[in-house]
Amino acid sequence: MDIKKIISGMTLEEKIALCTGGDFWHTKEMPQHGIPAIMMSDGPHGLRCQAAEADMIGINESLPATCFPTAVTSGATWNRELYAAEGEAIGKEGAAAGVSVVLGPGCNIKRNPLGGRNFEYISEDPYFAGHMAAAFIKGQQSTGVASSVKHFAVNNQEYKRQNGDSQLDERTFREIYLTPFEIAVKEGHPGTVMCSYNKINGTHASDSKELLTDILRTEWGFDGLVVTDWGALNDRIEGYKAGCDLNMPGGSQFMEKVTAEAVRSGKLDESYIDATVERILRLVAQSQGITKPEIDWDAHHALALKVAEQGAVLLKNENNILPLCENDMVLIGHMTANLRYQGSGSSHINPTKLVNITDAMPGVPCCACGDAQGNITEQDLREAVEAAKKQKVAIVVVGLPDSYESEAFDRDHMRLPDGHNKLVGAVAEANPNTVVVLLGGSAMELAWADKVKAILYMGLPGQAGGEAVANLLTGKANPSGKLTETWTISYDDVISKDTFGKKNTEYREGIYVGYRYYDKAGKPVRYPFGYGLSYTSFEYSALCVQDRRVTVQVKNTGKCAGAEVVQLYIAPPKGGIFRPVKELKGFARVELEPGESNTVEFTLDDRSFAIWSDGWKIPGGTYTVQIGASSRDIRLEQDVEISGEEIPAPAWQQGIWYESLSGRPSREEWESLMGHPVPVIPEPRKGRFNMDSTCMEMKDHSLVMKIQYMVTENIIAKGFGGKKDMSDPSYKMMLTCATDCPMRSVIISGGGAMSDSLAQGLLHMANGHYIKGLAAMLKK
Ligand code: BGC
Repeated sequence: MDIKKIISGMTLEEKIALCTGGDFWHTKEMPQHGIPAIMMSDGPHGLRCQAAEADMIGINESLPATCFPTAVTSGATWNRELYAAEGEAIGKEGAAAGVSVVLGPGCNIKRNPLGGRNFEYISEDPYFAGHMAAAFIKGQQSTGVASSVKHFAVNNQEYKRQNGDSQLDERTFREIYLTPFEIAVKEGHPGTVMCSYNKINGTHASDSKELLTDILRTEWGFDGLVVTDWGALNDRIEGYKAGCDLNMPGGSQFMEKVTAEAVRSGKLDESYIDATVERILRLVAQSQGITKPEIDWDAHHALALKVAEQGAVLLKNENNILPLCENDMVLIGHMTANLRYQGSGSSHINPTKLVNITDAMPGVPCCACGDAQGNITEQDLREAVEAAKKQKVAIVVVGLPDSYESEAFDRDHMRLPDGHNKLVGAVAEANPNTVVVLLGGSAMELAWADKVKAILYMGLPGQAGGEAVANLLTGKANPSGKLTETWTISYDDVISKDTFGKKNTEYREGIYVGYRYYDKAGKPVRYPFGYGLSYTSFEYSALCVQDRRVTVQVKNTGKCAGAEVVQLYIAPPKGGIFRPVKELKGFARVELEPGESNTVEFTLDDRSFAIWSDGWKIPGGTYTVQIGASSRDIRLEQDVEISGEEIPAPAWQQGIWYESLSGRPSREEWESLMGHPVPVIPEPRKGRFNMDSTCMEMKDHSLVMKIQYMVTENIIAKGFGGKKDMSDPSYKMMLTCATDCPMRSVIISGGGAMSDSLAQGLLHMANGHYIKGLAAMLKK
């Protein structure tokens, strides 16, 4: 493909048209220029390739594909090689289906446990999320299929995800929210980056030159393509200037005319469009080299099993009650036979097969009481108690139902369903040997944790989840997963509690996300970051820090083979500018036979010590290298002198929250961190509605929008047998996506059904200007 020659032969209109997809999943083909279309499909934990009817949120069936555990579980393996193998398998399945780009991995930070997509994200820690994402990308791209690291950036909640504003200070932006992307881009070299829906400090990601050019391309050296999240493009002209390339999904002609006019009138330099077209054509050209492999579906299922086993986290194991013999068990709970194994939304996979826990242990008695919503009747409880009494050990399987967590909406609270809590309580009372197997995509409140003997957290373990549970409970596999987010005792302990889930989100806690807050504030937690038990034990010794090379010996001191995840944290010098008490800067998973020991090696670099202060700078002083089994289980440590700069604490820091971490940061304290007053953004209202306003926001102020809302609601309900059931996650998600999406996004995602002028007209009407609205609608 002679890209330069192709571009020089294209008209301006053709070039602009190429920058929007052809349909929901394809780029445009332009046979007159020898440009074929390429296909994209969702990931990130399996291939969601929709052959026929396409939709954004996983309602319509896709081709069968291996459903790997979601990132909550695969992340908990702390195993880069295994995650790379998963990426490679997904890449192969994509290549075989003719897909050129698989949309993943997701490496947004889990800022708050209620984030609806936490299950799709890797961690609360930026270093960890970045390195795991990079490994996945390398694995996937080894097949020729490009990755799309997403959602760039600061997209940490689902509420108002399409027009909300993430407001944060520069240091937090760099150290916490950009770092995972930076590592993923610099190490993984993804073919594409997906820009997020939200605004960052008032500017949509798709419009942000700072984000998409200055940081991503100039600073980090990214030379691939930026694709919008589906419907995320805010302004085509600003997007070109920012370095936002491909507008997806395709089908509309959003702002194409005005863009051509802007070029002709000199408002937009054509070179921006040429640069975007070149990047699209480069991706198309690279895709031509992808070969279609044969897929060994059984091998991929076995890989999914391995990931699920290694990603399981043993949270508690009193008196070493686990592992167990099958003959001693009874299985209790709806999820034993209806495994919650993946999340809802665009990552929803149509699995090649599904192994429930009951399938994997057919000989074990089972009482699969309760329903899919987590409801338990008195009769269910009686049956469960009876069943529990008959066996030595009761295995209760509980977790978050599908309706609790999904793309497009956040969780309402951090609890399990009341029915599940009651079930655990009743069984634990009936049988002192109660073990809980827990399913769900993010941290949960576990009021009954002290009443049960063991807790095995599986996350969302994918299609082989049932086999993994069986192997882990019986000791065929030894748990080695560790938590990638802190589990608090209660939601009240979560530092972002008051600011999460608002349209304009003040990231008041700054850099104190996850263990960075809990560990410095000395808050008791249920389970710390990096925590997880094993059926064996490990001893750490011989820490040696020489220059930037760190080695440590780890020995398996127990009776069975196992794996330990060794974590390296760096503690900063005392005093000076505020910092967390420790930050993860290295991790390694080591497999050991009983009695075996091995040396684990880490290499530190400047970033291990640096902070962001108008650039990455190392405050000089005495640092401590800490080696631990979790952020709160430091086994060995050694001081090191690091030369660097004098970075004094800013004058405003003294005595305020960022130093003391006592209580919660006030708005005034946060404004000190931001470095300027932050005006409160007014709620949108009649007269001020614009292309960024949603039908949901306008419906209570405008009859036209109320009608549009009702029509949309009824159309969606039709697909669900006429039921407007908000407890059905698919319905809730569909309705939210369709009605809480900005007008511009309705144009883009409507595939041509809503023209620019129709949307403009409706908007004028919503603002109370009916004549203007009619005129706009009639305009060609
Ligand atoms: C999601 C993306 C996804 C895209 C395409 C969007 O709604 O945010 O993660 O890749 O849809 O399905």
